[in-house]
Amino acid sequence: MEFLDLPPMLGASGQVRLPGSKSISNRTLLLAALAEGETDIRDLLASDDVERMLDALRALGVAWSRDGDTDNYRVTGVGGPFPVKSADLFLGNAGTAFRPLTAALALSGGEYRLSGVPRMHERPIGDLVDGLRQLGAGVDYLANEGFPPLHIRPATIRSGGVVRVRGDVSSQFLTALLMALPLTGVESTVEVVGELISKPYIAITLDLMARFGVEVRREGWERFVVPGGVRYRSPGVIFVEGDASSASYFLAAGAIGGGPVRVEGVGSTSIQGDVRFAEALATLGARIEMGDNWIEARAPESGRLKAFDLDLNHIPDAAMTLAVAALFADGPCRLRNIASWRVKETDRIAAMATELRKVGAVVEEGADYLVVTPPAVLRAAAIDTYDDHRMAMCFSLVALGGCRVRINDPKCVNKTFPTYFERFAEIARPVPVIAIDGPSASGKGSVAARVAEALGYQCLDSGSLYRIVALAAMRAGVSLEDDQAVAEIAASLPASFEGGRVLLSGDDVSDEIRTEACSSGASRVAALPAVRAALLDRQRDYRIAPGLVAEGRDMGSVVFPDAATKIFLTATAEARAERRYKQLMEKGMAANMENLLKDLHERDARDAARPVAPLQKLPDAELLDTTEMDLEQAVGFVLGRVRS
Ligand code: DC
Repeated sequence: MEFLDLPPMLGASGQVRLPGSKSISNRTLLLAALAEGETDIRDLLASDDVERMLDALRALGVAWSRDGDTDNYRVTGVGGPFPVKSADLFLGNAGTAFRPLTAALALSGGEYRLSGVPRMHERPIGDLVDGLRQLGAGVDYLANEGFPPLHIRPATIRSGGVVRVRGDVSSQFLTALLMALPLTGVESTVEVVGELISKPYIAITLDLMARFGVEVRREGWERFVVPGGVRYRSPGVIFVEGDASSASYFLAAGAIGGGPVRVEGVGSTSIQGDVRFAEALATLGARIEMGDNWIEARAPESGRLKAFDLDLNHIPDAAMTLAVAALFADGPCRLRNIASWRVKETDRIAAMATELRKVGAVVEEGADYLVVTPPAVLRAAAIDTYDDHRMAMCFSLVALGGCRVRINDPKCVNKTFPTYFERFAEIARPVPVIAIDGPSASGKGSVAARVAEALGYQCLDSGSLYRIVALAAMRAGVSLEDDQAVAEIAASLPASFEGGRVLLSGDDVSDEIRTEACSSGASRVAALPAVRAALLDRQRDYRIAPGLVAEGRDMGSVVFPDAATKIFLTATAEARAERRYKQLMEKGMAANMENLLKDLHERDARDAARPVAPLQKLPDAELLDTTEMDLEQAVGFVLGRVRS
């Protein structure tokens, strides 16, 4: 399984240009396809769901072209029903392609088959099919009653009259009907049965239909009259707004991580309902500013988000972001009226509850609500994303709690936002790590400790972990060659560091781990892949604000490959042996230069020759040869690098 590890973050600020809106992109493409004339679409979203729509339109006889590798497209409308009368369309998990195409094809007088990924076949479409059948359309279920895949056959479409459609499962059924009805050429009225959910999405549909020349008369949110004798006409050029749902992650990042974070591409003149996410965020205390085409979010004056109890029916997609923002609130948060989550890319209520619990939240899950009680401290976790782009994007925010988080299958963001994690990395500031690697006795330990003190950072002496593992294994009578047994000890190592002392099961072993027996044992257990793997997370847990200085052999290469500063600190073996000799003499311990030198050579060779995380200077690390330097100079060098 592919994954992406996000480091703990200090905060977030900056600016993001949003990708085009998915809802607007796919509606615009369909309307441009059905319209008379050519439409130039600017800033179309580049994503899987839009690809599905583009592919389908081409298969249906609609010509379109892309301007180089820009996001600008030209669609040559067919001025009515689709010219291709027989097609087999695969639409992935793109609801915004599947539903509207079903309606438009049902009124196109051809024979079509529409299918998608398995999850698409679990997402209901019965209410839309019922509506289309009232018009006389021939739509059959190929597998389960009420669900894709579908078969559409030519049928005589009844002209005019009233179509009744349920509005309480997905507003996309109403959107699909409204967009397709002008194909009949006669006036029709759609009556919504049940409470219409996600109303702002219907507003987007009506706005775009009007831009293509069809004004729908709306009576409340219950009746919609689509005029007869009108055809879609290209508006010439149309700009796709930035995606307001995608904006929610960055705005929340600003509210959680200090900010300001500004998104560009949506604002007060936006036609997308999800811009109202900003209002919801404001009720949590976030400071929001808005212009025509931008929104900016900052953390509350108090620094902490306020607990909330909100009806989120009008912003179902962006509401997911609030579920994760709840982790940062000052009390239990209730998200109400979100039943539609259950029929989205995944059962989002269940998925959200499961994953929020992994990071430590207490979650109450209802049929149409969630109550999220934030934990005192977030727990690092591997988040499953259920092939749901929004799960992946939402949970990146956990990192702003100073907590590392692993996002499984991060590529699922391709559905609507292929470059999401790159953009996120541009605004989020990781807790900095200074990695100092190098051979034994090179002085890394002293340099690291001094640098950490100067900066007020944590300090990790990773070598001591290997030393403690070796000691614990020897005490337990485990062979140092036994990869699995030593790894088990490493995984549950009862070690702690207190005031410069090293404790193993409460026993002070500070001196014992420095003995030659432990040194050579450490170098042996450090060559075992399972042991290294078992210590990985433990080492990463030292990355705490405001920063970490980590010293060892693989700090910059394996444990913290994203470290901001990487130093490879070394000195000739002779210089190192001499330093070690002096240290031992000062401590009143017996020492022999010749043996020390031989031992260093052996350990260097072993550390460099092992297949896992061998000691080496990587190209991105800076070489610091301290043979001719004193400690002061070496510390000065590292601090200079950090500051530059
Ligand atoms: O730095 P040190 O001498 O305390 O390290 C003890 C042993 O542990 C040494 O043989 C190298 C190994 N080690 C390692 O393999 N990876 C690290 N990150 C740190 C130490």
